[in-house]
Amino acid sequence: MSRMRKKKNLIPRMERCAAWLIQNPAELRGVWREKLSLAPDAPLYLEIGCGKGGFACGMAAAFPDVTFIAMERVNDALVVGMERAARENLKNLFFVSDDAANLLDFFAPGEVDRIYINFPDPWPPKKQAKRRLTNERFLEAYKYILSEEGEIHFKTDNKNLFAYSLNTFAATDFKLSNITFDLHADDIFNVRTEYEEKFASQGLPIYRLEAKKRPGMVPALSVAEMKLALALMRPPKQSDSQADEGEEEPAEDSANAEARPNSAPEGNA
Ligand SMILES: C[S@@+](CC[C@H](N)C(=O)[O-])C[C@H]1O[C@@H](n2cnc3c(N)ncnc32)[C@H](O)[C@@H]1O
Repeated sequence: MSRMRKKKNLIPRMERCAAWLIQNPAELRGVWREKLSLAPDAPLYLEIGCGKGGFACGMAAAFPDVTFIAMERVNDALVVGMERAARENLKNLFFVSDDAANLLDFFAPGEVDRIYINFPDPWPPKKQAKRRLTNERFLEAYKYILSEEGEIHFKTDNKNLFAYSLNTFAATDFKLSNITFDLHADDIFNVRTEYEEKFASQGLPIYRLEAKKRPGMVPALSVAEMKLALALMRPPKQSDSQADEGEEEPAEDSANAEARPNSAPEGNA
């Protein structure tokens, strides 16, 4: 991945749209709906590795009755999504700046209805397979936080990662459906991500699948074991300036810096 020029004013930019950031996600564990003033059965969807947030923003605009949480460990990318959410005043989208390895600290069993994993880093060397977001250890953790009928939607341009993931989903007993080897040729509702636009412009096919949790499904490991496994899998912290190869974004203008109405959980911003 090529180096991205350091985004200017990252901290003030994040502060200006802080109402879209969940500062302490661990405090919302088990009470996301309550703290976000949602109905107890309101759908809660999570995107892991949201990058610049184009998918999360597009989905939140398309599905105003769903609440989306977009998680990303690199703030230089995350801030772009936060700024767009602020510009579009998306009330049903929140961002978490953290690593997926900490998911179990942020979500209680069954708290999330759907997880999106879009174009995750493929980590091609076999010895780095443990870092892939579709590694079995991650899938066990997703199983834990997903609701009874929860599901994972996964897309990638990387054939090898897709083949690997078909196996890991099957090995962890998820039920696979709507598998496609050429998403853009199929008639499936789709919001494109930033990476997806780039790959599509190069004429590359996009692979996609849905993986549903089976009734009564429980993770094979205890929570303590899963946390340990995820901690061991965490890659070294990537510097913000190495996150991506996007262009430097202009600082958000003051018109977009308003406080977010009626939406930030108490004590969050
Ligand atoms: C190849 S980019 C794709 C970004 C976006 N999903 C898209 O399709 O445009 C992968 C993103 O996942 C993030 N990521 C990778 N591993 C992660 C982890 N363990 N926790 C949170 N984010 C992660 C990276 O920082 C990067 O922004």
